[in-house]
Amino acid sequence: MNPAWQQGKLREFCKANGIIVSIYSPLGAAGALWGTKNVLESKVLKEIAESKGKSVAQVALRWAYEQGVVIVTKSFNKGRLQQNLDIFDWKLSDEDNKKIAAIPQARASDGNGYISETGHIKSLEELWDGEI
Ligand SMILES: NC(=O)c1ccc[n+]([C@@H]2O[C@H](COP(=O)([O-])OP(=O)(O)OC[C@H]3O[C@@H](n4cnc5c(N)ncnc54)[C@H](OP(=O)(O)O)[C@@H]3O)[C@@H](O)[C@H]2O)c1
Repeated sequence: MNPAWQQGKLREFCKANGIIVSIYSPLGAAGALWGTKNVLESKVLKEIAESKGKSVAQVALRWAYEQGVVIVTKSFNKGRLQQNLDIFDWKLSDEDNKKIAAIPQARASDGNGYISETGHIKSLEELWDGEI
């Protein structure tokens, strides 16, 4: 989950059923097989980041934090690790959140790896809830 794949419907279901959501690739995992540049290169996130004196990554992580999910992010860089932890003493405005909610959405997976004729979920129609 990240600002470019927000999965609000899934999260609403989880909240209603007492399920804590943990998210990986909150920065889009650019460069990974499943990655996208849609987060770190988002024009909307860049504008918000500039207006707040924060980095795009911090805005993406703060947004995820404000959604009440458990964040699993990764960096091999000490400075970026510190930056990613520095998201707790400021917040996004309602206006920021409206802009983030309007970011075009794209799935980070086509889902084919999660279905099997002999498994619990047999088709893509069963896997996805209709929301991108
Ligand atoms: N269980 C699963 O199915 C599953 C699937 C996917 C991922 N994961 C795990 O979840 C964790 C996080 O996901 P992820 O690595 O896919 O994605 P991610 O955290 O969204 O992205 C990590 C990438 O962002 C860069 N980055 C980190 N902080 C940054 C910052 N402040 N500014 C700019 N770039 C920054 C990192 O580069 P640098 O290292 O150069 O900073 C790295 O290339 C990983 O440990 C991964 O193994 C699990």
